[in-house]
Amino acid sequence: MNVNKGTAATCEVLATFQSKVEAKTAQVGVIGLGYVGLPLALLFARNGFAVSGFDLDPSKVTMLLRGESYIRHISETVIAEHVRKKRFHATTDLSHLREMDAILICVPTPLDAHREPDLSFVRNTAEGIAPHLRRGQLVVLESTTYPGTTEEVVLPILEKSGLHCAVNPYVTDGRNVTGSEGQEVDFLLAFSPEREDPGNKQFQTQQIPKIIAGVNASSARATQTLYSRAFEQTHLVSSTRAAEMTKILENTYRCVNIALVNELKLLCLRMGIDIWEVIEAAKTKPFGFTAFYPGPGLGGHCIPIDPFYLTWKAREYECPTRFIELAGEINSSMPEHVLASLADALNQRKQCLQDARVLVLGIAYKKDIDDPRESPSLKIIELLQASGARVDYHDPYFARLPKMRKYDLQLESVEPTPEALAKYDVVVIATDHSTYDYPAIVRHARLVIDTRNATREVQEHREKIVRC
Ligand SMILES: NC(=O)c1ccc[n+]([C@@H]2O[C@H](COP(=O)([O-])OP(=O)(O)OC[C@H]3O[C@@H](n4cnc5c(N)ncnc54)[C@H](O)[C@@H]3O)[C@@H](O)[C@H]2O)c1
Repeated sequence: MNVNKGTAATCEVLATFQSKVEAKTAQVGVIGLGYVGLPLALLFARNGFAVSGFDLDPSKVTMLLRGESYIRHISETVIAEHVRKKRFHATTDLSHLREMDAILICVPTPLDAHREPDLSFVRNTAEGIAPHLRRGQLVVLESTTYPGTTEEVVLPILEKSGLHCAVNPYVTDGRNVTGSEGQEVDFLLAFSPEREDPGNKQFQTQQIPKIIAGVNASSARATQTLYSRAFEQTHLVSSTRAAEMTKILENTYRCVNIALVNELKLLCLRMGIDIWEVIEAAKTKPFGFTAFYPGPGLGGHCIPIDPFYLTWKAREYECPTRFIELAGEINSSMPEHVLASLADALNQRKQCLQDARVLVLGIAYKKDIDDPRESPSLKIIELLQASGARVDYHDPYFARLPKMRKYDLQLESVEPTPEALAKYDVVVIATDHSTYDYPAIVRHARLVIDTRNATREVQEHREKIVRC
């Protein structure tokens, strides 16, 4: 008797949620309006849902309500239009979470000072939701994290509300869920990793298939119903742990392959072989090879960080993750390689690093974006300063270097005019922004250290270029 009652109650929670989604009366709340949360919120707004964005940072909320953007590739016109049509609202007040039908969590998951997972943002967010959680709501964690976070960290915090969401296994073929609706499901809980690639013009958010898993069948079904209204394709997996692992696999795959080409670059430099020419040639194989490119080190919120979430969790299972550790070691040694190449190039010119004037071009961790997180450029500047060089930088997206967790370099961008370029002993191309005029940089600079093969098409004065 009790069993049937429990199942019927769960069915009702799911059916009510699904009917609101189908009628597009479901209210969607997105917590964390950064590189991931803001585009996600705007995507649901574009698809006809009323969306509320929640962020701790009042300055972001104020800008959004004025129809302004703090992320370069996100259009102000789009934000302003959704705000005007009352499809999108932003607030710092978490009490409005109670009005939401779905709550999507997009907060940061960095590493702490000991390079261990810092889940404080996820924990704080769950603590912030719990007092406002009500029966029938769906909560989805989107932040990248180690397998087990949704069930082991988020669920117990949300259940402090007195509401329950039982963990029940289900089976899926990627599209359909087989499994009973289960017991004790007052609210729904899922994990759906964000696969956004900021600045990627080829793939818009809605074109990237959405991986979905619930802690039970109802949660998986509810999330699929919601997300299939905004994304072109969804793919279900059988547990939140599998979904969490999927995202980490994707980023570990990139991290390890980048480390491999970085290692091969060092060997190719010694052997007098052009690694970029080799990659272009290998790329002509129509199967079995995906091109990755060497560089001055890893940057961004994901690739340098996410694999270490897994490494940390693997310790609990006494299972070493040697590939990941090794890849991290190789990638994080790349800024030192840039410094050594630069010192060597100066030495060849009977100059030394001490007091050398160096201009670093590009602070963003990859080209044409305004995100400096974990950028190797910052590490390179720090190493140069520690060696006594006098360093300036230029980046079209940062007039001043922002204060960050690890760095407070207090520098202002210097325009790379012909006169300015000529003043420096060395110009380092750290980020290959498309706006740079590479022939002009090589023409006016005395010496160019190119960490990105950005000068590949420059014909004149190639004797000034050191690729490293
Ligand atoms: N940036 C990317 O390219 C990318 C891609 C895929 C996945 N991810 C993952 O997505 C997650 C978010 O990354 P991001 O790049 O959008 O981060 P971000 O730093 O750009 O944005 C996070 C936002 O969350 C806000 N915030 C933090 N704690 C909060 C709280 N308790 N309540 C309300 N707001 C809070 C911050 O003020 C900030 O605006 C991370 O787990 C990241 O690994 C990022």
